[in-house]
Amino acid sequence: MSEQAVSAARAQPIAGGQRPFVIAVCSGKGGVGKSILTANIALGLGEEGLSVLVWDADIAFPNQHILFGVEPPLRSNDIFQGKTDTFTALFPAAANVRILAGKTGAGPADVQPEELHRVALMLHGESSAVLIIDTAAGSSDDVLQCCAEADLVLVVVTDEPPSIVDAYGLIKILQTNMPATAVALVVNNTIDAEDADEVVKKMNMATERFLKRRIGSIGFVPYDRSVRTSIVEQKPLLHLQPSSDAALAIRSLARALATALASRFAGSRR
Ligand SMILES: Nc1ncnc2c1ncn2[C@@H]1O[C@H](COP(=O)(O)OP(=O)(O)OP(=O)(O)O)[C@@H](O)[C@H]1O
Ligand SMILES: [Mg+2]
Repeated sequence: MSEQAVSAARAQPIAGGQRPFVIAVCSGKGGVGKSILTANIALGLGEEGLSVLVWDADIAFPNQHILFGVEPPLRSNDIFQGKTDTFTALFPAAANVRILAGKTGAGPADVQPEELHRVALMLHGESSAVLIIDTAAGSSDDVLQCCAEADLVLVVVTDEPPSIVDAYGLIKILQTNMPATAVALVVNNTIDAEDADEVVKKMNMATERFLKRRIGSIGFVPYDRSVRTSIVEQKPLLHLQPSSDAALAIRSLARALATALASRFAGSRR
């Protein structure tokens, strides 16, 4: 996608600055935890009293509905086809959390960036404090469009070299196409804090040297078998194993995000 297309498509605040804070969750490499973090950070923000929308923008392989264990009758494809709108399609998945689910069957090429932008603008009007977009792996146009809609791009990374290399590649593309967009790391599947620090250090050695930019981290989430159990049982981790190490880490990460966003919502609706 050209730089021009990205800036033209970047979300604009609606009148009164009431649109939600938009977070796009990306990674470059697939299978690093974008979807489980999206779902559970949303729940964590919901627990903090924020109203949250989760948009499953992984066009080809959406799975937020599976992670939440719900079957929304209407999905984003119904909106793309002009059959419904976001108000009707949003499905209550948990306290303070509604999801716009996707449906397997389409390929990313079937949905143009302009369509994604149209849905993003519709979601702005749905009375929420935060919109979290779960994206596909890679850096295709649909993923970059989701990033262009975001106030903050969260790049999920693990301590494995392919993940670090791909995350760096994605950050480089973001730097070129949308240099003003805030980017932060979430280190997933870690052994401990030291392991997470090491990943952040490695990433910043590359970004500071080649992009002249420091990328902060909003936290880390340990490898935890309860994550798998929650997926198998189709019950979100924060509900199924609220005291597990991963749930505690995600909750504290969500709390930090909510605190950082608090000033934005002071005096406005939630
Ligand atoms: N903190 C964790 N502890 C243990 N397992 C994890 C953790 N995070 C993710 N996983 C495992 O990694 C798998 C992939 O997670 P997830 O589907 O969220 O990744 P993804 O980045 O969204 O993948 P894709 O790129 O295919 O969309 C999960 O099925 C889960 O088993
Ligand atoms: Mg995913």
